[in-house]
Amino acid sequence: MERREFLRVSLGAVIGLPVVASVLSSCETDVNKVQGQVVVVDLSPYPALKNVGGMAFVQAENYSFILRRSSQTTIVAFSAVCPHQGCLIGDQMGELHHQKIICICHGAEFNPKTGAVIRGPATTGLTQYQTEFDPQGNTVKIYV
Ligand code: FES
Repeated sequence: MERREFLRVSLGAVIGLPVVASVLSSCETDVNKVQGQVVVVDLSPYPALKNVGGMAFVQAENYSFILRRSSQTTIVAFSAVCPHQGCLIGDQMGELHHQKIICICHGAEFNPKTGAVIRGPATTGLTQYQTEFDPQGNTVKIYV
């Protein structure tokens, strides 16, 4: 490659790089928006969620959640998939307690307020989702 051709190609790459990076960056943002879903859950079949501190195992639209009534106006949602090896937490009676969430597969325990690990073998906490509780309609929107 001659010197003039080398400079033309090199300058084109340097000048074009920020443009390409900008385009790729905007594509990532669009993809993330498209991937985001909202799952709306009717809470009427879960009387435990009427009381602050109450929890329920809920399956909706191919997702499994552990919901907790954290105040009169808020519902917290965690993924019910154990971060240790993927067991489903809470699909049987007795696994959801006021003081902890227990995975019966290997005994990992999680804080019901934060989803943080209390006892291993899990090393990371439960995935928490953003929620929007409508007390009047008795529904919660979960942003997955
Ligand atoms: S899969 Fe839950 S503790 Fe192992």
